[in-house]
Amino acid sequence: MSVKNEFTKHAEDYNNNNIIQQIIAKALVRETNSKPKTILELGCGSGQVYKNINWDIDKYYAVDFSESMCKLHPKNEKIEINCFDFDSEEFFEFLKNKYFDLIFSSSAMQWSKDLSKLVENLKLSCDGINAVLFTSNTFKTIQKITNKKSPILTKEKIKEAFLNSFDCEFEVYNYNLEFEDKKVMFDYIKNSGVSGGNSLSFKNAKKLYKEYKLNYLEFEVIFVKTISKS
Ligand SMILES: C[S@@+](CC[C@H](N)C(=O)[O-])C[C@H]1O[C@@H](n2cnc3c(N)ncnc32)[C@H](O)[C@@H]1O
Repeated sequence: MSVKNEFTKHAEDYNNNNIIQQIIAKALVRETNSKPKTILELGCGSGQVYKNINWDIDKYYAVDFSESMCKLHPKNEKIEINCFDFDSEEFFEFLKNKYFDLIFSSSAMQWSKDLSKLVENLKLSCDGINAVLFTSNTFKTIQKITNKKSPILTKEKIKEAFLNSFDCEFEVYNYNLEFEDKKVMFDYIKNSGVSGGNSLSFKNAKKLYKEYKLNYLEFEVIFVKTISKS
């Protein structure tokens, strides 16, 4: 299943399965030094980033390619929601002749098909980017047991993509999310929007159930703050 369909299918459950996303969206906004007035957000989902903004803004452009997720985003006269794929030419056209004080993105840019190209295009339209992305170390023990590669970029690739266009600060954090019940834990992966629709065969699912000894899921995220254009 494609990433877009995965988010569309689980949109209604997303708000109950996104504890880590909520924590990092809050941290992303909290760690912003300036109070930008014109903001673009990539992969806005149900509005976890917007909901944490506690200063006056002029305009908030929210972009997400899943219509179901866009429907969940808060709405008011200052918010413009656009259903774009941030890797598409349509989105790059939208960027032309626009300028944003800051671009935010939380838990979304790891899905870019060409992160270097995306960041390069964003560079022309903003003063800076504050983003947090999941890395390929998310669910690392599950990948080891099932012998499946993460669909998400490594932190090295993420750093490289941003450094092509900006001087940046990076911070990597690991989170463990504990569960009392194994089934609930594995269901959480499906609904959380971090699996990328990478479903397991019956054989692999059985192996995972037997061999996964942890009572928690592993997440790794990287916070990216651009400092200046390079
Ligand atoms: C894990 S959710 C995060 C949503 C929100 N930013 C949050 O912090 O809760 C990732 C979002 O990115 C969107 N997304 C993923 N790839 C995208 C793309 N190529 N273009 C636009 N949106 C994308 C998904 O539809 C989804 O709403």
